Amino acid sequence: PRVAVVFGGRSSEHGISVVTAGAVLSAIDRAKYDVLPIGITTDGRWALTADEPERMAIADRQMPNVDDLSDSVEGGVLLPLAPGDREVVYSEPGSVPKALGEVDVVFPMLHGPYGEDGTLQGLLELSGVPYVGSGVLASAVGQDKDYMKRVFTSFGLNVGPYLVIRPREWQQDEAGARQRIADFAGEHGWPLFIKPARAGSSIGITKVDSFEGLDEAIAEAQRHDPKILIEALLRGREIECGVLEFEDGPRASVPAEIPPVQTHDYYDFEAKYIDSTPGIVPAPLTPEETAEIQRLAVEAFDAASCEGLVRADFFLTEDGRFVINEINTMPGFTPISMYPQMWEKSGVSYEELVDRLIQAALN
Ligand code: DAL
Ligand code: MG
Repeated sequence: PRVAVVFGGRSSEHGISVVTAGAVLSAIDRAKYDVLPIGITTDGRWALTADEPERMAIADRQMPNVDDLSDSVEGGVLLPLAPGDREVVYSEPGSVPKALGEVDVVFPMLHGPYGEDGTLQGLLELSGVPYVGSGVLASAVGQDKDYMKRVFTSFGLNVGPYLVIRPREWQQDEAGARQRIADFAGEHGWPLFIKPARAGSSIGITKVDSFEGLDEAIAEAQRHDPKILIEALLRGREIECGVLEFEDGPRASVPAEIPPVQTHDYYDFEAKYIDSTPGIVPAPLTPEETAEIQRLAVEAFDAASCEGLVRADFFLTEDGRFVINEINTMPGFTPISMYPQMWEKSGVSYEELVDRLIQAALN
């Protein structure tokens, strides 16, 4: 079968996606699959790139970029989906895969908006091409931290205290919004985390210790998404768990612990990728705690109607409760990323993981 590995994209997680895709391109079984690497540039052009995974790595603390792979771009633009481009007419169902070049399955190795959020999934649904991972609804739920928490709450999962400031509220009643934040801080204390509702990899997130840093933090979050979240600090341990769909249903991996970050304020972008703070796999938990988080991770997978895979991130609070922070429907997928590592320690190698996900999409 022919697999299109789609990576890069318009989100702020472009570079991580390129690294992730490079690792997948290296691991994919070439005897079994014909691979088509498709890079999406930061301004939304789709291009068939050369198959050179070694160029898709972090170098000199810099993330790779599809635009920088441009001297290896073959065939130019396949799908001119750049914003404002009205040239393409999809005249019949199935015309998009023709533009993609007859593929059997798409592996959307994209993080964040325009890739992990259901928009690409919708395009692929319209095109009738099978793809790896969650569909439109689960992708959209998993991208929006506001709706994600609402879904989890409605399914009985614990979420931490949070406040949503929507763009219209901010425009029409900024003073009221500020008062709500002040009340929230009064109730839950500092620090607060100011986050864009739809973003990933800690991008656009600021930890603020007092009113002083608030304005800048709000502006920074709003640069990524006009809808923002205010979250209270959850004291406890950060524990993650992977879910993978097998023939008989979803199963949870051994969990991992993200140790408190010494050199960074919290598990921010640099800690995650540049300094790659190592996680502890498996997490040192009691058998009961392990069973509990595995059960909750599968519940989160089902609550959002996920397919294929998900990484569910929790806090184990000081009073012994698992509070879900978020899910990622296309988690970071480099060999040192937590999701593949948790499966490695659960007996599923990186190569097998990639193969399982493609097979699940094809079947
Ligand atoms: N959003 C990043 C890629 C992750 O969750 O791993
Ligand atoms: Mg997370």
